[in-house]
Amino acid sequence: MGIRLIKISAVYFLLGAGLGYYMAVVHDYSLTPVHAHINLLGWTALTLAGIIYHLFPAAAASKLGKWHFWLHNIGLPIMMGGLALFTITENPFFAVFISIGATVVLIAILLFVINVFTNVKE
Ligand code: HEM
Ligand code: HEM
Repeated sequence: MGIRLIKISAVYFLLGAGLGYYMAVVHDYSLTPVHAHINLLGWTALTLAGIIYHLFPAAAASKLGKWHFWLHNIGLPIMMGGLALFTITENPFFAVFISIGATVVLIAILLFVINVFTNVKE
C-alpha cells in the first residue's frame, strides 16, 4: 500500500505543478488554493504516508491504514474538484463538494494519526 500511495502522490505532483505552471503562464492566481492543496494534501502528505506505510508494514496492514488510504483518496478529488469548480463558476452548489470532500479527508487524517500512534513502533 505504501508503494501505491507513493505512485498516486507522484500523479498529484504532476497535476499540482502543472496547475502552478498554468497559473504562472496566464497570470491568473485564482486557483492558488487548489494548486496548494493538490501539492500539499496530494503530493507531500501522501508521499510521507506512503513512506511511513512502507517502513511500518503493521500500520499498512491495519484496518486503520486501509480506511485512511481509501478515505483520503476518495475525499481529496471531491474536495479539489469542488474547490476548482466553485472558484471558476462561483456557483454555491459546488461548495457542498468542498465541505464533503474536506470532511472525508479530515476523517482520513484522524484515522492516520490513530494508526501512527497504535501501529508505528520500534
Ligand atoms: C513547477 C512547479 C510549481 C509551479 C510552477 C508553481 C507555481 C505557483 C504559483 C504561480 C503560485 C501563486 C503565487 C502567487 O499567488 O503569488 C503558487 C503558490 C503556491 N504554491 Fe506552487 N508551484 C509549483 C510547485 C509547488 C509545490 C511542489 C508545492 C508544495 C509542495 C507548492 C505550493 C504552493 C503554495 C503553498 C502556494 C501558495 C503560497 C501562498 O499562500 O502565498 N507549489 N505556486
Ligand atoms: C482537510 C484538510 C484541509 C483543509 C480543509 C484546508 C483548508 C484551507 C482553507 C479553507 C484555506 C484558505 C484558502 C483561501 O484563502 O482561499 C487554506 C489555506 C492553506 N492551507 Fe489548507 N487545508 C487543509 C490541509 C492543509 C495541509 C495538510 C496543508 C499543508 C501541508 C495546508 C496548507 C495550506 C496553505 C499553505 C494555505 C495557503 C494557500 C493559499 O495561499 O491559497 N492545508 N486551507
